[in-house]
Amino acid sequence: MIDYQAILNTIYANVTQESDKGEIATYIPELSGVDPNRFGMHLKLISGEEFAVGDSEVGFSIQSISKVLTLAMAMSQVGSTIWERMDVEPSGNPFNHLSLLELEEGIPRNPLINSGAIVIADILVTQLKNPKADFLKYVQDITGDSSISYNLKVAQSEKETGFNNYAAANLLKSFDNLHNSVDDVLDFYFHQCSLEMSCSQIAKAFFMFANKGVCLRDVGRLTKTQAKRINAIMLTCGFYDEAGEFAFEVGLPGKSGVGGGIAASLPHEFSISVWAPGLNPQGNSKLGMLALEQFTTLTKQSIF
Ligand code: DON
Repeated sequence: MIDYQAILNTIYANVTQESDKGEIATYIPELSGVDPNRFGMHLKLISGEEFAVGDSEVGFSIQSISKVLTLAMAMSQVGSTIWERMDVEPSGNPFNHLSLLELEEGIPRNPLINSGAIVIADILVTQLKNPKADFLKYVQDITGDSSISYNLKVAQSEKETGFNNYAAANLLKSFDNLHNSVDDVLDFYFHQCSLEMSCSQIAKAFFMFANKGVCLRDVGRLTKTQAKRINAIMLTCGFYDEAGEFAFEVGLPGKSGVGGGIAASLPHEFSISVWAPGLNPQGNSKLGMLALEQFTTLTKQSIF
């Protein structure tokens, strides 16, 4: 038997004493005021047991972690037609890189970089009657938690400084890979990124990737194949130009966000989320990566 609580406590003691906690993201001004000393972690086993440490119930901006949830919703709505509009290859580049998109004629490398997530947002804007409300309801349903909401100040802040995302959306539009207006799609995208969730809520949302596509509640279910594919994309593309390092050090499918969160799953075993707001130069949570590396080392559980 693995003593998960003891392991989380050990990790908490180890990582919170690190003096270099990384840098808070400031390019979205509304994120810049977050306390760099925050640290939380939440583990949810397939058996239903849960373990937590630190600020695991405190909400934070999930940012790019939302890209996995919009991908899951889009896959459950339109299935594999998604792959007519984007690829499933790692980009080896930062999340907001643009030149590959031009070279590859408006086909994003994968759905977890910004350009790919903007195409997924476009698909949902086409599919959903009330895109922002329907996506929020989906996240509330899969977690069974109706208190989850958008942070409208963060969405507005990102809109005001989202020049790179406007460039990506316009480039997609010029290649005919955006069917709705740039403004409508980005309004949805900025809201999805502004979702505020705690580690505990994120671990519940990611439970379906550990549980063959079946959510905590019987809603928003993915097929077993769709869940497998999303795990594969997280493993190869979830950390941008640091995807190799995350597979090397941690060995789990996962996704980061510039709010300092990371969500990950071990298929058939658990989902896990960690939050430490300071980022490394690649834009991934510095202590979050360290914590997950220690977790897979101490539990001897990873996909490898
Ligand atoms: O589009 C952006 O720039 C942000 N809303 C999301 C970026 C992000 O979280 C990148 N991930 N590590």
